[in-house]
Amino acid sequence: MAAREIVPDVYSVGVIDWDRAVFDELMRLNDGTSYNAYVVRGSEKTALIDTVDSDFEETYISNLVRAGLTSIDYIVVNHAEQDHSGSLPLVLELFPQAVVVTTEKGRDLCGSLHHVPPERVMVVGEGDTLSLGNKTLTFLSTPWVHWPETMMTYLEEDKILFSCDLFGAHIASSSLFGDASCRYQVAARQYYAEIMQPFRKKVGEYTARVRALGPAIIAPSHGPLHRAPAGILDLYEDWTSDEVKNLVVIPYVSMHGSTREMVVRLVEHLIERGIEVRPYDLGRCEPGQVAYDLVDAATIILGAPTMLFGPHPKAAHVAFITNLLKPRAKWIGVIGSYGWGGKTVEDLTAMLAKVDAEMLDPVYVKGKSDEETNVAIARLAGEIYKRHQDHSLV
Ligand code: FEO
Repeated sequence: MAAREIVPDVYSVGVIDWDRAVFDELMRLNDGTSYNAYVVRGSEKTALIDTVDSDFEETYISNLVRAGLTSIDYIVVNHAEQDHSGSLPLVLELFPQAVVVTTEKGRDLCGSLHHVPPERVMVVGEGDTLSLGNKTLTFLSTPWVHWPETMMTYLEEDKILFSCDLFGAHIASSSLFGDASCRYQVAARQYYAEIMQPFRKKVGEYTARVRALGPAIIAPSHGPLHRAPAGILDLYEDWTSDEVKNLVVIPYVSMHGSTREMVVRLVEHLIERGIEVRPYDLGRCEPGQVAYDLVDAATIILGAPTMLFGPHPKAAHVAFITNLLKPRAKWIGVIGSYGWGGKTVEDLTAMLAKVDAEMLDPVYVKGKSDEETNVAIARLAGEIYKRHQDHSLV
């Protein structure tokens, strides 16, 4: 690993985790990740911006040495989650004069997560500044991206915004700066889908604020930096707007083929009506693939058979995640088949309560679908088409 100069006296000292395959024991990572951290060396004081996951603390300290650090005055904690604060205890031990700079909630979390004594913390809030001599840090209060304590730090003289998790991506790359490649954009969108999507409104507000601020470089906590910030800001403005796409996402499970048959019919009817469709067989797909498409989908149809007395657990799992992510979809529905009874539709409807979407009439049948089922599926496709058409999506 290495310390890399971003501009004179500002270094990237984070680490690349090429092999990480799962985050939060939930999200699959296709391309590893990085834990970014930075050094800002002023004429009088030196500040670290964030630390790294504790698994990599030796590499991190080595990077600080490579960046020529002999003393640290401030450690800015933009976000207290452990992938960024895990090495904080070691840094505080090695640099006993260093002061942690964070929000009030950040101070509480550093205390509970790492036992940082409050007397080593300087609390900052919106618009507060910290002079390093010839460089000035300004703090922006940006809670809930994606924890309550999050803030961003702006280096005024060099116009570099240290944006914490916001505008990041789980992608391991030897390139310091990101580009417009498909690989990068997919990673950035997957990251938004799984981390930032539940906070869409706030993220949209912060995106507008960053656009107005006009940074020359955005330096997030994961993935490459942005030296042409307009690209990532354009993407975030799209993802956080209220505008959905002409897309129906259909995550489904089928144990004996009945629910799959209904899904196949629905897909055919939607395609015939000019609607884009993404069916995901949850027996084969990761929930992350569904999350990726929830960013844009106007309609979500969950295909779920009844297992014993309620929804198949894989369908319930996706419903639970969808409810957490609170996608901007406008319509949602349930289709499927049951053997002898159960409350699958009621259970799934209750599980999706936080999704602010109109619930379409379910198509839920006993046993194998028949001609009557096919008519109901065609009617559902028509209802979806009508709504998409009324909103000028198709
Ligand atoms: Fe990358 Fe929320 O920590």
